[in-house]
Amino acid sequence: MLKGKHIILGITGSIAAYKAAYLIRGFVKKGAEVQVVITPAGKEFITPITLSALSSNPVISDFFSNRDGTWHSHVDLGLWADAMLVAPATASTIGKMANGIADNMLVTTYLSCKAPVFVAPAMDLDMFAHPTTQQNLERLRSFGNRIIEPATGELASHLVGKGRMEEPDKIIAVLEDFFSRKQMLEGKKILITAGPTYEKIDPVRFIGNYSSGKMGFALAEACAEHGAEVTLIAGPVSLQVHHPRIRRIDVESANEMYEAAMQEFPSVDAGILCAAVADYRPETRAQEKIKHEKEGELMLHLVANPDIAASLGAIKQDKQTLVGFALETNDESRHATEKLERKNLDFIVLNSLRDKGAGFRCDTNKISILFRNGERKDYPLKDKSEVAEDIVEQLSELIKTKA
Ligand code: PMT
Repeated sequence: MLKGKHIILGITGSIAAYKAAYLIRGFVKKGAEVQVVITPAGKEFITPITLSALSSNPVISDFFSNRDGTWHSHVDLGLWADAMLVAPATASTIGKMANGIADNMLVTTYLSCKAPVFVAPAMDLDMFAHPTTQQNLERLRSFGNRIIEPATGELASHLVGKGRMEEPDKIIAVLEDFFSRKQMLEGKKILITAGPTYEKIDPVRFIGNYSSGKMGFALAEACAEHGAEVTLIAGPVSLQVHHPRIRRIDVESANEMYEAAMQEFPSVDAGILCAAVADYRPETRAQEKIKHEKEGELMLHLVANPDIAASLGAIKQDKQTLVGFALETNDESRHATEKLERKNLDFIVLNSLRDKGAGFRCDTNKISILFRNGERKDYPLKDKSEVAEDIVEQLSELIKTKA
């Protein structure tokens, strides 16, 4: 799984820096190419000669290689990487990463890195337990970085507690597992709906909702990252897609989303319906702006929009998988189960507006996944990119059973 992978290994000033030598050896043995970026403090603990001999690459520490105007491009390095691992990561470097303090080559490279980032903390138990360190780690998690928890044991201070950098073979296994899961949707075609729909009242007004598209776009990126060809049907949102395997179709109304989804669904392996589709639209749309000239009420007559999920559920082939969402405010499980069955979904992702940090607009979500056989999985509040990973994992398991 690591063969041919480009790994940036960031080393900081910790007694655990010696373990970086074992990390490099392990990665190289498995066919990966390692580029070491070390902080000035890191060099006090392990020499660049050792690191460059093991990685067969010069070690990068300074912005400038020589005093002749040449410099190391952290941007190029960030683009080269398939993964960045900071091991050992001191409290200081974790703090700098969490707060964008780019005063050395390692943090600058981190800020330029588009690849997944893994952080293996190493420090004394009290430093690790300190609220500042924990908050900084939480912040890194919220950016989608993966923290490889330190182990409990004897520390450099001879105190015993949690803070020892995880052993190199375990860290290598985490990256191997990551790259093997990465292929989970290789060769699959996935359709995703995201964002709100706008139902026009007149040229300046519409009926809509608060969906930002963040959850659906995170799913599109995660599916593409795991090897799928993604068609993303997006309602009106101000988000960009990043992954080249995502084809985006922009729509505005529920009817437009329905047309696009019905057209695309027959050729995909799975659909994930994350859009917050307006259930109703005004029966007629005023051609000119409705003026506030008369006192009293304005009556809008609404008609039902097509139910995209139910329509796709009705034409779903046995080999296809269909995943829906349920956004609820009360009696959550009952409503979600009813939608799961009525729309002929394989599983439904329930999120409730009663949970702080869940649902519309925020960067986080708290979900439960409900399956047709009555099984249920509850997840804690996480960044939407991590929630997307959880959903992709369940989806790929299900797709496998239909292959
Ligand atoms: O976009 P964000 O700000 O990140 O917010 C994410 C989210 C809250 C929008 C998302 O997590 C979510 O819950 N999406 C579904 C919202 C919703 O409309 O739920 P629902 O319970 O009303 O609909 C049930 C399912 O049927 C959904 O899969 C929905 O896409 C689908 N549906 C609903 C109505 C309709 N006419 N057609 C549909 O396909």
